[in-house]
Amino acid sequence: MAKAPVNVTVTGAAGQIGYALLFRIASGQLLGADTPVKLRLLEIPQAVKAAEGTAMELDDCAFPLLAGIDIFDDPRKAFDGVNVALLVGARPRTKGMERGDLLEANGGIFGPQGEAINAGAADDVRVLVVGNPANTNALIAQAHAPDIPAERFTAMTRLDHNRALSQLAAKLNVGVSDIKKMTIWGNHSATQYPDIFHAEVNGRNAAEAVNDEEWLRDTFIPTVAKRGAAIIEARGASSAASAANAAIDHVYDWVNGTPEGDWTSVALPSDGSYGVPEGLISSFPAVSRNGSWEIVQGLEINEFSRERIDASVRELEEERDAVRKLGLIK
Ligand code: NAD
Ligand code: LMR
Repeated sequence: MAKAPVNVTVTGAAGQIGYALLFRIASGQLLGADTPVKLRLLEIPQAVKAAEGTAMELDDCAFPLLAGIDIFDDPRKAFDGVNVALLVGARPRTKGMERGDLLEANGGIFGPQGEAINAGAADDVRVLVVGNPANTNALIAQAHAPDIPAERFTAMTRLDHNRALSQLAAKLNVGVSDIKKMTIWGNHSATQYPDIFHAEVNGRNAAEAVNDEEWLRDTFIPTVAKRGAAIIEARGASSAASAANAAIDHVYDWVNGTPEGDWTSVALPSDGSYGVPEGLISSFPAVSRNGSWEIVQGLEINEFSRERIDASVRELEEERDAVRKLGLIK
C-alpha cells in the first residue's frame, strides 16, 4: 500500500539554503524513495513571492513523490500537522559579524515558531534547527513547546561532522567512508570540538593513525571549527548547498536509523551525559534507533578533549543565560 504523505515544513524557504534543500526533499532524499512529501513553506511576507517562484520550479520538476506545496507567512498555519520541521529561516551572519550578535536578532523568531509547533504539530514531529545560532535557537523553540518531548528538538552539527570527515580523509589520504565514529561536541560555532580520539579509520584509531598532535590542535580543529567563516569569506555568503546536504543527512538518519558500527553528531537536549548540564542543546555522538536519537555512552574523555568540550559548553551556557536575560526562555 502507498505510504501517506509526510508533512515537511521548511522555514526560510526562499533563502539560499531553502533553494538548495527543497528540490532534494521533493526528490525523496530526505525521507526515502518510497515516502511522498507535502511541502509547507514558511516565509516572511516580503519573501512569499520568491517562495512562490521556487514552488513553480518544484512543480516543473514533476517529482513523483511531491504530493503538494503550500506557502504561508503565518507560523501557526505552516506548522499545522507538521511531521518534520526544518527551521532554516533566520538572519545569516554576514562578513565581520559575530554569532553572538545574532542571538537577539533571531531569538524573537524561534519563540513564536516553537509555540506554533506546540499548537499544531503531529504527534511524531521532529524538529531540526539550522538557522543560527542554531543550538540556542533550538533551545528557545523547545522552551516554547512544553507539550512536545524535548528530545524532538535538535540543532544541526552534521555539517561540522561532514567537514571533519572530509578534512581527516584528506590528511590520511583515505575516502570519507573509511572513517567511522567522528564526533562534534558542543556548539555549532567556532568553539565546537571535533574529536578524532574515538574515530576509526579502516578500523584503526584515527588519533593514532594521525599521530600528529600539532596538526590536530593547530590545523584540524580550527579548520573544521572556522570553516563556516572561511566559506563566508570566500563566497561572500554563508554555506548553502553543504548546509542543505547536512540537513538531509540529519533527518534521513533520524528517521531511517544510523548505520551499524557508526555514529553521527547531533545537537540535542543534554540528559547530563559527559558532564553537559541537563537541558542544554549541545552536540554529542549519537545513534538513531527506532526513530529516536540516543547519545553514545561510555566514551573515555581525555584531558585534551575535556577542556575543549567544557569551553564550548560554557559558551552554550552563556548563550542560554543571555536569552534568559532577554526573556526569551524561563
Ligand atoms: P538566507 O538569508 O539566504 O535565507 C533566510 C531566509 O529566511 C530568507 O528568505 C528570509 O526571508 C527567511 N526568514 C527570515 N525570518 C523568517 C521567519 N521569521 N520565518 C520564516 N522565514 C524567515 O539565509 P541562508 O543562507 O538560507 O541561511 C539560513 C540560516 O542558516 C542562517 O541563520 C545561517 O547562518 C544558517 N546556517 C546554519 C548552518 C548550520 O550548520 N547549522 C550552516 C549554514 C547556515
Ligand atoms: C556554517 O557553519 O557554514 C554557518 O553556520 C556559518 C554561519 O555563521 O552562517
